[in-house]
Amino acid sequence: MLIYVINGPNLNMLGRREPEYYGAETLDGINKEIRAKAESLGIDAEFFQSNAEGEIINFIQNAQNAGCGGIILNPGAFTHYSYAIRDAVSAVTADVPVIEVHLSNLYRREEFRHKSVLAAVCTGQISGFGKYGYMMALEYFAAIKM
Ligand code: DQA
Repeated sequence: MLIYVINGPNLNMLGRREPEYYGAETLDGINKEIRAKAESLGIDAEFFQSNAEGEIINFIQNAQNAGCGGIILNPGAFTHYSYAIRDAVSAVTADVPVIEVHLSNLYRREEFRHKSVLAAVCTGQISGFGKYGYMMALEYFAAIKM
């Protein structure tokens, strides 16, 4: 089973960016751990990070053609206002379930972060468990694959 792990804007800055919210590890470091966990679950993980809304949309749109079975998506700040990414998720979600992941707990932060315009079209949302949120999403995909 192929799973996409997509990270949006500023997540390339992990390790240098507000460690009190996002921890001290880099995205590369987290992705290595995700890959190891995925392998142990028999999942093939493909990673993508972009600061550009359109590039994220293109990647999501390609999921079905690529035979991707699920998407783990941390949309960064696009979470709170990107109707375009919402529409991209909405278009694929019947065939490719999408799990929204956030390192920080959105609901303990500024009010504008309490609103996700994506959550209603995603299979589910995981927020506040740091890098373990990605691992939890992998566990879900491994479980539904059975
Ligand atoms: C984030 C939360 C967003 O509000 C923020 O803009 C991010 C990261 C998280 O992982 O906690 O860039 O998605």
